[in-house]
Amino acid sequence: MRRLRQNPEIRALVRETTLTVDDFIAPVFVVPGKGVKQPISSLTGQFQMSVDVLAEEVFLLSQMGIKGVLLFGIPKAKDAVGSASYDDEGVIQTALRALKRDVKGMLLIADLCFCEYTDHGHCGVLVGDEVENDLTLGETAKQAISLARAGADIIAPSGMMDGMVKTIRQRLDDGGFPNTIIMSYAAKYASAFYGPFREAVNSAPSFGDRKAYQMDPANSDEAMREIALDLDEGADIIMVKPALPCLDIISRAKERFGVPIAAYNVSGEYAMVKAAAERGLVDGEKVMLEMLQAIKRAGADIIISYFAKDFATLQNTLPKTATIN
Ligand code: PBG
Repeated sequence: MRRLRQNPEIRALVRETTLTVDDFIAPVFVVPGKGVKQPISSLTGQFQMSVDVLAEEVFLLSQMGIKGVLLFGIPKAKDAVGSASYDDEGVIQTALRALKRDVKGMLLIADLCFCEYTDHGHCGVLVGDEVENDLTLGETAKQAISLARAGADIIAPSGMMDGMVKTIRQRLDDGGFPNTIIMSYAAKYASAFYGPFREAVNSAPSFGDRKAYQMDPANSDEAMREIALDLDEGADIIMVKPALPCLDIISRAKERFGVPIAAYNVSGEYAMVKAAAERGLVDGEKVMLEMLQAIKRAGADIIISYFAKDFATLQNTLPKTATIN
């Protein structure tokens, strides 16, 4: 076996997995206001940005070859149903219109959820202490059409409500948006790795947890059922989240369904690497590349990652495709 490992040239020839900027989507955080670029303390190198600053950042990402940004909004005000999420003048809608106008050649992906917009931090409408599925679907339809009208190329529902993909597809088709793509968070686990994100958007649930709608990390067959349902309901791309703890799920889904799969390399996965690198415990760059490569090797076609810009920067400074070691 070692004959094919003896020098960089032969290793390059037989390498099975190659990362490129085409694989990446960069998540971004949008806030109201002007000239705002607020560092997010839980996510080194990430910022809450007002629309004007965001437009410059997204332009830069497009120049670096990144093909998509996933937008998360922090609204001015929150309420019980998250109505700011379907306000046509809302923070994401405003950002979508500005980016559509000012930046060409970038896919605009809108996360569709309520936890950033509800005063209780849950991903839907509460009845008592429970997120009510079908009431939430009604709100979901409103948000979907508002996001499409504002210019979202892709809608990414992340609430883990049953029937959400069907509701969105129907509403988009009826509303004159047959070409809007749905990238569904199909297998989304109730994961502790989302901690830094919830700090970034102030969306931690004010009571309880998300275990009644997000999946139990112990389950794998259930993920296959979730994915099958979402594909049946009209999802174009399915997502597995988080990424590193779910490489088996990515791999199983790829083999079983053969559809485009996105993996979300979430906030906690990013923050761990940054923190360990800052302490000198690991080589942050090499660990990043090994991690991202593993996600692709497992079967992900698309990697949503806070490392997107770091990766693109690294690749743009290298004479050829970046590799580990
Ligand atoms: C919204 C949503 C979350 C993330 C993406 N969309 C948070 C959650 O489910 O609590 C997490 C992303 C990350 O950790 O990077 N529901």
